[in-house]
Amino acid sequence: MTIRFFHSVLLLCSALLVVPELLAQHETGSDLLNGERAFRDYCANCHGPDGDLIKEVDLGHNNFRQPYSDQEIVAIIMNGIPNTPMPATPRVSEEQAAMLVAYLRSLGESDDTSVSGNVARGKTLYEGRGECMDCHMINGKGSVLGPDLSSIALVRSAAELEKSLLEPNSEVQPGNRFYSVQTLRGEKVSGRLLNHDAFTIQMLDSNEKLRAFEKSQLLSFGFSNPDMPSLSTDYTSQEIADLVAYLTTLRRGAAQ
Ligand code: HEC
Ligand code: HEC
Repeated sequence: MTIRFFHSVLLLCSALLVVPELLAQHETGSDLLNGERAFRDYCANCHGPDGDLIKEVDLGHNNFRQPYSDQEIVAIIMNGIPNTPMPATPRVSEEQAAMLVAYLRSLGESDDTSVSGNVARGKTLYEGRGECMDCHMINGKGSVLGPDLSSIALVRSAAELEKSLLEPNSEVQPGNRFYSVQTLRGEKVSGRLLNHDAFTIQMLDSNEKLRAFEKSQLLSFGFSNPDMPSLSTDYTSQEIADLVAYLTTLRRGAAQ
């Protein structure tokens, strides 16, 4: 996309500081997380968490004062802007600076009402390589192990959906909590907690069977970590965007 476009511009301006291959690479989800971390460490104290704290400067909405190319922003990060308070950031490597730029660009993109992903490709990933149906249900198809996603777009924004995919355990809704018990006879059962009170526990086990237990008959019980896999390492940011684009179409009753 933009990156590939700027890559060809870059080849014409070989006098620039940046190694072209660096920017031509397709950034992955984990690159974006690294970029986010670098932003918090090196930039947010001046620019603010959303990048818009400095008057007339807005880093988080693809709203720069000039239509900078990616490599121009890398150069600004590495060298600062002479004769202004914008400092050079010597601790940042070129690679990190490129991740930072990818992160800033992605913030701008997730602002758009239409995500840059492709719905059909996202659906294919969801039903295929993503193995999402092993745990999730959409309009009655799939599994009840994880939360039902049939109307996920009504309760989650594109940015929140992206976060669920990259950092699954960061915000778990109360109904999505996983629970494990061990009975006095030694049986271990884990699954999704449906309900519990002072004496009993009801849960869906990993075979999707409703199970009920008396707490007095249990050796141990408690929350266990949900196992929604993080997609940050094996998926490109384009694939994540495709999945998010598909998920944002999920409103119960809407044509799928
Ligand atoms: C010490 C405070 C400070 C820090 C730290 C800082 N900046 Fe800046 N930055 C500024 C100021 C002030 C300006 C506006 C300079 C000017 O007047 O041209 C600026 C301008 C910029 C611009 C130009 C924006 C535009 O629209 O022209 C970019 C891009 C930028 N900063 C990125 C970053 C990034 C990325 C980091 C972290 C690696 C960072 N800055 C760290 C203070 C800071
Ligand atoms: C091994 C089971 C498993 C697989 C496979 C899985 N998920 Fe999940 N997913 C979960 C669980 C459990 C949760 C609830 C805990 C959480 O929010 O982290 C969850 C949460 C989510 C949420 C947040 C739901 C909400 O209510 O906010 C989304 C979106 C999601 N998954 C999408 C996906 C997609 C897309 C895939 C395939 C690429 C996938 N999941 C694969 C188990 C799974």
